[in-house]
Amino acid sequence: MTETILLNNGVRMPSAGFGVFQSAPEETAIAVETALKAGYRLVDTAAGYGNEREVGDGLRRSGVDRNDVFLETKVWVSDYGFDETLHAFDKSASKFGVSQIDLLILHQPMPQHFDRTIGAYRALERLLADGKVCAIGVSNFMPHHLAALREHTEIVPAVNQVELHPYFTQPAVQRANAELGVVTQAWSPIGGITFYPGWGENRVSVLEDATIGGIAAVHSKTAAQVMLRWHLQQGRSVIPKSTNPDRIVQNFDVFEFELDEDELTAIDALDRGVRGGPDPDLVDPMTFDVEIAES
Ligand code: A2P
Repeated sequence: MTETILLNNGVRMPSAGFGVFQSAPEETAIAVETALKAGYRLVDTAAGYGNEREVGDGLRRSGVDRNDVFLETKVWVSDYGFDETLHAFDKSASKFGVSQIDLLILHQPMPQHFDRTIGAYRALERLLADGKVCAIGVSNFMPHHLAALREHTEIVPAVNQVELHPYFTQPAVQRANAELGVVTQAWSPIGGITFYPGWGENRVSVLEDATIGGIAAVHSKTAAQVMLRWHLQQGRSVIPKSTNPDRIVQNFDVFEFELDEDELTAIDALDRGVRGGPDPDLVDPMTFDVEIAES
């Protein structure tokens, strides 16, 4: 049975999902098919990843009933604004080949263009009211972005998806989410961002951390599995990415062991407070020149 998290609007979301960030389109369909056959029931993508069509292909190829799969995607900033975001739903839904999306979230706050961020979120509220999506949320929102959003909109986001792994645990974001009843969903949950090629020299891979390795050895699990377990036991949703069939299976085999309090605390203590990805306040995402295709 799939372990789920209850969202603040009563919808249940599988806690452990499958991510396809940086999965090339030609690899995505097979990866999604493999993941669904391995038992995953949540797939997270984004219009900006350019692989929604292949996620839909993988879903159909898996033979798993569409109604048993929780599909999550993100609106890219070039589609922010009320009308633009309504249309962004149509683009994503048609690429997936579905009529309803389970969770639609804003990819980034746009601090430099917050009015368009608000317009986009109001469109999500409309899509929710119209039954086109089952839940709505945000990504990469820091507490002050959430506060600004709350001032101008009605519906509390169900989910805030943020960079979160043992080297960057974002306690303030987790607290703000919890206070509002927003589920924290970890992107790069096993710290892929700490070792992605091309993302800068001198990165230290959290997969090679000695503390995590020690805990993994005690449980006869891998470092990745220990990190995923740590998230799940602390109530977070996770969306590890892999295109490797063995690692896809491994990353879902995280429900039959338990970390104790000391182990959870030891992993919490690894936080370095240094993000691997871009700071949402320091980049203007409009400068990432990505236009989301119609089909
Ligand atoms: P690959 O796709 O070749 O498996 P994250 O989701 O935290 O960003 O991590 C994704 C990165 O971690 C990818 O580079 C992925 O590569 C790699 N990865 C995924 N699962 C595992 C695992 N179980 N062990 C080691 N590396 C993994």
